[in-house]
Amino acid sequence: MQVNVVLNKNTSKDYSVHIDTLEKLVFDTKVLIVTNTTVAALHLEMLKTRISAKELHTIILPDGEMYKNFESLNLILNACFEHRLDRQSLLIAFGGGVIGDMTGFAASIYQRGINFIQIPTTLLAQVDASVGGKTGINNSYGKNLIGSFWQPRAVYCESAFLKTLPKREFAAGVAEIIKMAVTFDKNFFEWLETHDLSDEANLKSAIYKSIAIKADVVSQDETEKGIRAVLNYGHTFAHVIENQTQYSTYLHGEAVAIGIVMANTLAQKLGLLSAEDAERIQTLLKRYELPTHYKIDSLERFYDAFFLDKKSANDKITFILAEGIGGNDMRSGIPKEVVLEALGDANV
Ligand code: NAD
Ligand code: GLY
Repeated sequence: MQVNVVLNKNTSKDYSVHIDTLEKLVFDTKVLIVTNTTVAALHLEMLKTRISAKELHTIILPDGEMYKNFESLNLILNACFEHRLDRQSLLIAFGGGVIGDMTGFAASIYQRGINFIQIPTTLLAQVDASVGGKTGINNSYGKNLIGSFWQPRAVYCESAFLKTLPKREFAAGVAEIIKMAVTFDKNFFEWLETHDLSDEANLKSAIYKSIAIKADVVSQDETEKGIRAVLNYGHTFAHVIENQTQYSTYLHGEAVAIGIVMANTLAQKLGLLSAEDAERIQTLLKRYELPTHYKIDSLERFYDAFFLDKKSANDKITFILAEGIGGNDMRSGIPKEVVLEALGDANV
């Protein structure tokens, strides 16, 4: 199976997402695989048997969001220099979203930009992070605040890698699948209500469908001037929750699940979403044991934290809301009292 990402205005950047078709990749250039200790221990030897290159090198980074920083970026760049990678060389991101984002960023700045491909090994990275060319690292000011748009040359999603994924990480990926269904595709949402993703065939269908939605959105709006922002449904709230819990209590997808429920409370207040549909979304999240509630200490402090998000502009927050199931609305200028009321309703 294959999904094409067709980018407006610059067709040379188009690429394909190949699903469950990774047999042999042959490159007549130098290749550097970037991975981490966990993924290397589980899958690196297998991947190496699938790759033939002029020279094949590997860098294994420590595992964790806390290593998505300048130090790791520098380690990747140093490996590029050490192995004398040139402008024809290729980086391969082999891991979850952390490895994908850092490798893409390194590829975008090494010698003013070289090619990279994504071989995502988490569900979240397969259905979301590996597609669309957002790359970056974190710093003390926040998450993903330093980065670039740099599209991969190809993405290879192999569901076989997901067999070793811990249950919580799997569910975190499901949250992003549900996000896409709620905001873009009612039929897909209804299909998710009646199909269990622990079944392999169902999972493959959901991965394909989610990538198709993401590819379509990115094709319309590569650099998030409009519709791509809808992919941040739940994220405005999630980022505050992640920040307030020092990125250590919830996985990103778990915070997104809570954020979706909070966004839905606001959508209900604005008459965009019925209580019944909000309940259906929450029920689907709960089925994968995703958290759906966060105890807010101070509503005012939670509200103020929205303005630290890089998605807020000119002191205005744009909320991404579900408009029924399968529709979306981007709203800015919602009065503070209404947002506080919604946060209060979600906080019971
Ligand atoms: P992650 O990369 O930290 O991976 C989660 C954990 O799973 C890690 O411990 C990892 O080593 C482990 N792992 C990876 N593959 C495995 C496998 N096959 N078997 C067992 N363990 C495995 O986290 P993630 O959820 O993949 O990605 C989150 C990151 O992605 C965040 O940094 C987020 O900002 C970023 N992100 C980026 C985009 C984008 O568009 N670029 C979109 C969403 C998220
Ligand atoms: N994950 C959001 C985006 O790629 O735009």
